[in-house]
Amino acid sequence: MSTAYEAFQVFEQEATAAIEAARNVADLEQVRILFLGKSKGRLKDLQSELGKATPAERPAIGQAFNEMKLRVTQLFDTRVEVLSRPESQPRDFDVTLPGNLPRLGREHPITQTIEEFKEIIGRFGFTVDDGPELEDEYHNFDALNIPKDHPARDPLDNFYLAAAKTANGQPILLRSQTSTVQIRVMERTRPPVRIVSVGRVYRPDEIDRTHHQMFHQMEGLMVGEGVTMATLKSVLKMFAAAYLGEDVEIRFRPSFFPFTEPSVEVDVRWRDGWLELGGAGMVDPQVLENVGYDPEKITGFAFGLGIARFCMLRHGIDDIRLFYENDLRFLKQF
Ligand code: FA5
Repeated sequence: MSTAYEAFQVFEQEATAAIEAARNVADLEQVRILFLGKSKGRLKDLQSELGKATPAERPAIGQAFNEMKLRVTQLFDTRVEVLSRPESQPRDFDVTLPGNLPRLGREHPITQTIEEFKEIIGRFGFTVDDGPELEDEYHNFDALNIPKDHPARDPLDNFYLAAAKTANGQPILLRSQTSTVQIRVMERTRPPVRIVSVGRVYRPDEIDRTHHQMFHQMEGLMVGEGVTMATLKSVLKMFAAAYLGEDVEIRFRPSFFPFTEPSVEVDVRWRDGWLELGGAGMVDPQVLENVGYDPEKITGFAFGLGIARFCMLRHGIDDIRLFYENDLRFLKQF
């Protein structure tokens, strides 16, 4: 009789040890098959001990068997529950190690300048508008009063697309100036107009310290009654002072653009020298007529400023190429 009790005890000890040693649910399943499995489990062998008992012994042995079986299956069920919890799942990293700090990126200095430009010019009531970088000749040249034989239209001075044409078969080019947006905005709005447009323009210029083949311009356009050169100069002076500081000076030099009359180059004096920032002028009456405005009733000014030049001036950067080399040692400084 003692052999039955001993066998139960051995079974219980070994099953308990195996259940506690299991590290995951899959291990535990192996333990279940080995000890409690209905067809080949060791529990089944133990039942034969019951058969050997005399009728007098049987109730006590049966009770001992049932109590032992209950303890083992309860332990098993508890362990299954514990090992199924998410926090018990195997991890492939050590949670006690110090974490990796995410490296924070930052906006490109040109993007920062663009955002600041929009914010400053917004204070003078200019809203931001947009136009496409792929343009037709009408918006890049014709409507801006640039005649067919003008050198600015030379295919060697522009990026014409070899593989694409407009719907009506006209050439397409990467816009060479943001002045295209003047036309697009006036085509869809009635005066008064007070907008800026900031974006990329493309020219096959020779690349040097102040020239790139892709660069950014901010175009400004103000059209309405009583808009004059004085308004233009005031806006540009206030704008430059807000970006560079109160001590800046603005200088207009006579120039020529087919779409403004008169036309000027805008220079700024800051610290020790004058630097050209862009072109400007009063919108040519012909351009106003091209978009259906009445030049007898309204006037307007326009300007186009190089964004990089401002940014270089403020930060003392002496080479425009640094903006596009993606050298983090340079970019991290902004
Ligand atoms: C124009 O592009 C005219 N559309 C400006 C304008 C607008 C005049 C409205 C009148 C009315 P310009 O080619 O000068 O003008 O270029 C304007 C500015 O863009 C330059 O002063 C300079 O700051 C910048 N720029 C021109 N070419 C480059 C280049 N290759 N790389 C970097 N910046 C450039």
